[in-house]
Amino acid sequence: MDGNGRWANRRGLPRNEGHRKGVENVEKIVEKAGELGIRYLTLYAFSAENWKRPKAEVNALMGLLESFLKKQRKQLLKQKIRLHTIGRVEELPTSVFKLLNKVKADTSHFEDNHLILALNYGARNEVLDAVERYTAAIQSGTELQEGELQWETFSNYLDTSGIPDPEIVIRTSGEQRISNFLLMQSAYSEYLFSPVCWPDFGPDLLEEALLEYRNRERRFGKTGAQIEQEKLLSTKSSS
Ligand code: FPP
Repeated sequence: MDGNGRWANRRGLPRNEGHRKGVENVEKIVEKAGELGIRYLTLYAFSAENWKRPKAEVNALMGLLESFLKKQRKQLLKQKIRLHTIGRVEELPTSVFKLLNKVKADTSHFEDNHLILALNYGARNEVLDAVERYTAAIQSGTELQEGELQWETFSNYLDTSGIPDPEIVIRTSGEQRISNFLLMQSAYSEYLFSPVCWPDFGPDLLEEALLEYRNRERRFGKTGAQIEQEKLLSTKSSS
């Protein structure tokens, strides 16, 4: 969700106004994602590197997150969406951490739709944390070491355990970087870079992005001909 600051600058507004507008857009996008049948929506709301921003901006972002969670709790319950977090959330201000845990617990019985907030998240930290958790599990005997370590086993120790890999990753504001986001999980994702700043990346643009995604061919290392063959076989077997 990049470009809140530039959105505000271009209008002669303080950066925090851009973040406030950004949150308004988050609310619209969560609703639209439900309508479009997106079962897993991950939002990169605060990176592990974002602590380097001026203290006042970090505080404003934490305040926005807190008010968002208070307001969104009802909406998540109404839309039957389960809240998850990825990232080192225990390092967030205590009030935010507690609120996150409350909303996660209150929505933990929902199975179909999921909102994942990446908070104090960085993919490299995630890998380090996963290695520590995996090693601890081996040492305690809860994980058995049988043969060569498989990705399917190790990935259970990532923050995203139980959450499918993203099919599409969208970055707004024209920057063409990944910035430490879901590096392992997006190995085969389609990337889409939009020039539009996050506060203006509304529901219609999300829908357009999905249409573009549909027209892309995902090959997972195979050839185009193999993919066509598979499509043909699957339409034959379903008819
Ligand atoms: C990037 O824009 C955006 C962020 C670092 C924060 C994203 C946060 C929100 C949309 C609000 C809080 C989120 C939730 C879920 C309540 P930028 O500030 O880097 O913009 P710039 O690159 O134009 O300066």
